[in-house]
Amino acid sequence: MHCVRKVTEDLYWVGANDKRLNLFENIHPIPRGTSYNSYVLLDEKTVLFDTADWSVCRQFLDNIEYVLDGRELDYMVINHMEPDHGASIEEILLRYPNVRIICSAKAAVFMKQFGFSADNIETVKEGESKSFGKHQVTFVMAPMVHWPEVMVTFETTEGILFSADAFGSFGALDGKLFADEVDFDRDWIDDARRYYTNIVGKYGPQVQNLLKKAAALDIRYICPLHGPVWRKDLGYFIDKYDKWSRYEPEKKGVMICYASMYGNTECAANVLASMLCERGIDTALYDVSCTHVSYLIAEAFKYSHMALLSVTYNLGVFPVMKNFLEDMAALNLQKRAVGLICNGSWAPQAGPQMKEAAGKMKDTEIIDDVITVVSSLNDESYQQMQKLADDLAASVNA
Ligand code: FEO
Repeated sequence: MHCVRKVTEDLYWVGANDKRLNLFENIHPIPRGTSYNSYVLLDEKTVLFDTADWSVCRQFLDNIEYVLDGRELDYMVINHMEPDHGASIEEILLRYPNVRIICSAKAAVFMKQFGFSADNIETVKEGESKSFGKHQVTFVMAPMVHWPEVMVTFETTEGILFSADAFGSFGALDGKLFADEVDFDRDWIDDARRYYTNIVGKYGPQVQNLLKKAAALDIRYICPLHGPVWRKDLGYFIDKYDKWSRYEPEKKGVMICYASMYGNTECAANVLASMLCERGIDTALYDVSCTHVSYLIAEAFKYSHMALLSVTYNLGVFPVMKNFLEDMAALNLQKRAVGLICNGSWAPQAGPQMKEAAGKMKDTEIIDDVITVVSSLNDESYQQMQKLADDLAASVNA
C-alpha cells in the first residue's frame, strides 16, 4: 500500500522510513531510525527526484506507482549517488525503461561504478535549466557536500530546493513530513546536528559555498534527502548550517569528556564539573566509554570549550578518547579552547599525547598546562584544577 504526502499542489513525497536499521552508514547509531526522501513532480512531464535505499524499495515503488497513476515516468533527477539514495535506480530503470536520467557528469561515472547500466543519461552543468511544463528547474553543483558528484536542484516556479543531503537529519518521519509539524528545536535539532556534524561536518568550506549560492535564490521549500521538509522559518535551519559549517559554537560552555577505568578520572571530571558550575558555567559531562562518538562529535560542535580527561593505557591515551580526538581532527573541528587532564599511576603518558592530538585541530587553544593526576586526586592536583576551572570560566566569559 502506498504511503505518500503532498508537498505542494504538483509535488509528492514518495520516500519511506527505516526504523530497523541500527547503524547509519554502518557506524552511527540511529535509535529514532531514518527517512529516505524522494519526490515526484507531476507536470507535462513526470519527474522523480532521487531514489531510496534498497531496504525501503518496495514501499518506494508502491508510492511512485500510486502517484503516477498510470502515467509514464519521464525523468529521474539524481542529485546524489550514495547508495542510501541511489540503490533503487536500477529498479526504476526496469519498471520505467523509457525514463531519462538527469545528473552531473561525476554522478554518471559513479552510476557505472556501482554497476547500473543506464543509457538514457543527460549530464548537466552548473546553472543549466530545464522545463518540465509549468515547472522549471536550475541545477546547482554542490561538490563535496559531501560527495564529489552532488548537485542540488532548484525549482524556480514555487521556490523548491531539492537539497540532497544538505539540511537533512537522522530520525524517521512518522507521518510528520514538515518541520512545522514537529517541535524541531525540542525533538529534532540534536539528531540534525549529529547528522550534519558526522556526515557533512568535514566539508564546512564546501557547505559555505553552497549557502552563498543558496542566498541568491528565493527558496520557499527545502526538500532534503533525510528528515523533515522545510516550508516555514527556513532561516532557523539555514542559520544552524551557517554556524556549523563555519565551526562556530552554538553555546558558550564546557563539554567535559572523561575516559576512566576505575573511577578516579571520573571523580576528577565530576570535581571539574562542580567547580565550573560553581562559577556559573554551563557544562555537559560525558563518559566516552559509554557514549557513541557520533554524539560526542555533535556536542563538540555545539560547545565553545572542552575539557578532556583520560587515564593512561598502554602508555598512551585510552582508546575511546584517542578515537574521539582523531574523529574531531578528521571532521575538521576547529576554533575551540581545550583543558586537558591525564591520569597515570607510574607513567602518565596520556597528557602529552592528548595535547599533541588536540593541537592538530586548527585555531584551537590549549588552556593551562596539562594537569597530571597520579592515580587519584590529591591536594596538589585539586588546586591545579581550581586554576583550570578559573581559566576555563574566564575564557568562556571573555
Ligand atoms: Fe544520505 Fe550522502 O547519503
